[in-house]
Amino acid sequence: MRHLLQSDDFTAAELDRLMDLADDIIARPEHYKNACEGKKLATLFFEPSTRTRLSFEAAMYELGGHVLSVSSMASSSAAKGESVQDTVRVAGCYADIIAMRHPQEGAPYAARRVTTVPLINAGDGAHHHPTQTLADILTIRREKGRLDHLTVGLCGDLKYGRTVHSLVECLSERAGVRFVFISPSQLAMPEQMLHTMLEEKNVPYTQTDSLEKALPELDVLYMTRVQRERFDDLSQYEALKDSYVLDLAKMKLAKHDCIVLHPLPRVNEIDPQVDADPRACYFKEVYNGKIMRMALILTLLGLAGGAGFAKSERAAAQGKLPEGCVEAQCSNAHCISQTEQGLPHLAAPVPGRPGVYRCVWCDHLI
Ligand code: NCD
Repeated sequence: MRHLLQSDDFTAAELDRLMDLADDIIARPEHYKNACEGKKLATLFFEPSTRTRLSFEAAMYELGGHVLSVSSMASSSAAKGESVQDTVRVAGCYADIIAMRHPQEGAPYAARRVTTVPLINAGDGAHHHPTQTLADILTIRREKGRLDHLTVGLCGDLKYGRTVHSLVECLSERAGVRFVFISPSQLAMPEQMLHTMLEEKNVPYTQTDSLEKALPELDVLYMTRVQRERFDDLSQYEALKDSYVLDLAKMKLAKHDCIVLHPLPRVNEIDPQVDADPRACYFKEVYNGKIMRMALILTLLGLAGGAGFAKSERAAAQGKLPEGCVEAQCSNAHCISQTEQGLPHLAAPVPGRPGVYRCVWCDHLI
């Protein structure tokens, strides 16, 4: 059984298959309209969401399946103190597949230990959000015609932006991709991610705080919102929230074929006047997100036929603890291991950094 918790749960070849299937769904929607007949998707959203939840639900309805969801987690047993693992085990008795969003980092990794049905991470705290990446890469492939040999700029909240983390992990697998990280120093990419996703694989990147300076060289600009809900100190959020605003004047600095993406919701970081520019692709991304979730549901349920995944090493590795784990308490206050009963406190060695360990649930350095 396959799950999608982070981008590298799928190989580049598997992601290509998923995008091929998505292209076919766009070309022949009628062919898929009963593909999930009799199947049920449970959406467990322990944190606010509009488009991700709606797009999962729309995806399942368009495949002819059903959706089970609790209207708010405050009205579910989670509010009574039920563990994530119990909630997921119970949902698996009713549904054939689960999409889960949780504010604590590592929550879906805890859930994967017990789930009896395919599990999709729809965002865990500031950690990962791989289905937004599916929307992003389909948009890049359809607009630019390729996912390799691109200079990709990511701008805004790179520290807490889980969509950024998942997209970087995914695109770092493609040949000739260079990253330009544009942020104030307080919101820079987590050092651990730079190390494992890029430095270990010799993927080139630069860091700057100037959007104006970075813009002329970019093929893709990925704008993000400063993630208010992740700040422990709201005065810091206030100081940083308007760090970057993409407007018509700045768009003049971009290449004629540079595409602009944003996972949405936007707050202030893209002037609505930019929407009419043909390079603005963030609403196409919303549509592509639904299609990729259709392709994902079909594939994880084993209903994609010849377009599905073959057996892969990546699949066999999923869910296995890395070698050399030691017992250690995670210091990240937002890690699922702080609250989840029965979850072992474990850390794994970081490859290439002797003596450095990361939490196996949330990846924070220990
Ligand atoms: C993103 C998220 O939830 O991380 N939204 C989404 O799923 N499209 C981005 C965000 O909230 O800023």
